[in-house]
Amino acid sequence: MKRIQFFRESIKNIKEIGTITRSSKFVCKEMINHVDFAKSKVLVELGAGDGVITKHILKAMGPNTKLLSFEVNSAFCDVMRAIDDDRLIVVEDSAEHLQKHVDELNMGQPDFIISAIPFVSLPEELSYSIVRNSKKALKMNGKYIQIHYSLLVKKMYKTVFGNVDVNFVPLNIPPAFVLVSEKRDED
Ligand SMILES: C[S@@+](CC[C@H](N)C(=O)[O-])C[C@H]1O[C@@H](n2cnc3c(N)ncnc32)[C@H](O)[C@@H]1O
Repeated sequence: MKRIQFFRESIKNIKEIGTITRSSKFVCKEMINHVDFAKSKVLVELGAGDGVITKHILKAMGPNTKLLSFEVNSAFCDVMRAIDDDRLIVVEDSAEHLQKHVDELNMGQPDFIISAIPFVSLPEELSYSIVRNSKKALKMNGKYIQIHYSLLVKKMYKTVFGNVDVNFVPLNIPPAFVLVSEKRDED
């Protein structure tokens, strides 16, 4: 998808998309820097957009690893489905239904979840539901990796996971934070 089409789609659905530009390559690299690709069999991406982070993940992934990418915007899903890679499964559904899809596809528990969902502009209840369901679905010691443009909802990860590390990425418009939480209990 061209940059201008991404911009137009964002303007139409600004609350759901949360930004008018894609993540920079610096953000994409920082996000995947926290993934242990050698040990991962199942990866999940939430809020894939038109696939800018997806492509970085696929490039770093092993041949037997699967990537389940969630996206609610149908124009973005059409672009995602055109990515020719049989390790990628595009799910046109809300990320809160993650467990249902993992079960239906018989994939096993995700090792890492990589998310660009704009929680700052989504209802708080939906945001908590997505983050709680992500923790439930993750493997023990699996990590949840999230991009944000502010630290307004940092406490949500601390509340759900009990831990959160913050990494600053200045080379993005606007500058970004990559937040990483680890699943350390089943609560
Ligand atoms: C900020 S864009 C990120 C796009 C791309 N991953 C990037 O980093 O540039 C956030 C994406 O999350 C999607 N999204 C919002 N709510 C969602 C939900 N409940 N489930 C899945 N995707 C959602 C939006 O449609 C949008 O494409």
